[in-house]
Amino acid sequence: MSPKFYVTTAIYYANAAPHIGHAYEIIAADVIARFQRLVGKDVFFLTGTDEHGIKVEKTAAKHYVSPKEYVDTISEHFRNTWQFLNVDYSRFIRTTEPDHYDVVSALWRKLLAKGDIYKASYTGLYCAGCETFSNPRDLTPEGFCPNHLTPPEPVEEENYFFRLSNYKQAILDHMEANPDFILPAFRRTEILNQLEELEDISVSRSRRSVSWGIPVPDDPEQVIYVWIDALSNYITGIGWNKNEAEFQKYWPADVHVIGKDILRFHAIYWPAMLMAAEIPLPKSLLVHGFITVADTKISKSIGNVISAQDLVERFELNTVDPIRYYMMASTGIGQDGSYTDEEFKNRINADLANNLGNLLNRTLNMLNKYFDGQLPQPDKDVETLARQEELAAIREHYEQYRFNEAIQAMMELVDKANKFVNDKQPWTLHKEDRIQELGNVLYTVLETVRQVAIMLAPVTPMISQRIWEQLGCQGEVKKADWRWIQGKPLVGGQATALGEPILPRLESEIVGAGKKK
Ligand code: MSP
Repeated sequence: MSPKFYVTTAIYYANAAPHIGHAYEIIAADVIARFQRLVGKDVFFLTGTDEHGIKVEKTAAKHYVSPKEYVDTISEHFRNTWQFLNVDYSRFIRTTEPDHYDVVSALWRKLLAKGDIYKASYTGLYCAGCETFSNPRDLTPEGFCPNHLTPPEPVEEENYFFRLSNYKQAILDHMEANPDFILPAFRRTEILNQLEELEDISVSRSRRSVSWGIPVPDDPEQVIYVWIDALSNYITGIGWNKNEAEFQKYWPADVHVIGKDILRFHAIYWPAMLMAAEIPLPKSLLVHGFITVADTKISKSIGNVISAQDLVERFELNTVDPIRYYMMASTGIGQDGSYTDEEFKNRINADLANNLGNLLNRTLNMLNKYFDGQLPQPDKDVETLARQEELAAIREHYEQYRFNEAIQAMMELVDKANKFVNDKQPWTLHKEDRIQELGNVLYTVLETVRQVAIMLAPVTPMISQRIWEQLGCQGEVKKADWRWIQGKPLVGGQATALGEPILPRLESEIVGAGKKK
């Protein structure tokens, strides 16, 4: 039986359409999932939409539709966009689904029975944008929420509380014993600081202030406040409380991919809730940075929201792979990344159209000219360009979520192959009638391209498939196995199929949005 791998994204608030910031996160998760399948794991990949709460309720009201109608539309928009981006998830969960209601209620009852949920009256400041109570300490001098620059609303009501403070030591111990719990490691300090002053948290709101949510079991006047509802999607998704075999197979999650803004909820609230429910903790949190447009926060009010669909139109792309590639190549996972049209175009042209695309194209052209498109039978000791340690390093980069470094190492391999062609000068070998040597050179180059196609497939599945077909390889590259990189070289005699360039050069004029300041 293959070992399992369970990867999740955050679930996206169903109150606005997806943009390239959300896309960045799910592409990273999809690359992880595809890589883990490539190395033979049985992967479960969960994503979805977070559909309850005040924010959704307010936005729906603004559009004169019911919350349910509103989230149905937005959720579908997310699903369509992820399909458009070729995201291969196992389940798309919606927090409005019946099995999730059951999980949240069951989890609530468990925490209550344990004595970790209690009722108390509360006075505080609530930021609907964050869906959380604000700590007065964290507000701006004007008293605004630092994330939304709007004043939080004063709230006075009787709510249920979760004894978060009980779990402080256990969380510290867990972080100590599991140095890889929070990745990249520099994010740990932030959580260690926040653990210093840990207070119990409110986990319900009165139905008067928010009606769009899951009712508290046996107390319909109260509604479960979003974080218990949202976080538990990760266990609903694989059948907790319903399909024990499936749950046991995939839990604990290997990695929750999340943005830096929601680390606190995942590194403190979620572990505490799981400990209270006596469920093992996820193995790691992969915390990514934020994507901006030319260093400016992506925001509707600024008017700089860009979607994946916009980019496809703007550059007349015939595949979404350049978007996936750019996102993974340009920004290391913990860093913030700034999107600009210019950098996008330059990066894609340099790496995919020129470096990789031209290499394949010119080599297949020579193969057509000199060998009628048929792969020659190489010598037994034919040169290979990718050294064992280079391949191992690429795998290691993927395993450690350093996608930009994996890509860089692959591009270095492509550089090496381009240089090899220039040094060996196949056209001279042909002129001098050194046919066996000529065959060896072309074979070596195409074999390197084949290896890159497999290794790059988690990032650029469509482009890899185009390469695969032009090389005359059978089947789908997404079904390949990492062991084929060295174990299944191209076969002499195989017919190749030179086609259109795997990616036409991007020529579009650079338009307004995203121009570098
Ligand atoms: N619904 C909550 C998460 C609950 S998870 C149990 C939420 N939703 S969100 O739609 O606001 O954000 C979803 C994810 O997208 C988060 O991980 C967030 O960090 C990420 N991003 C939102 N904007 C982003 C960028 N501009 N750049 C990168 N990621 C961004 O929070």
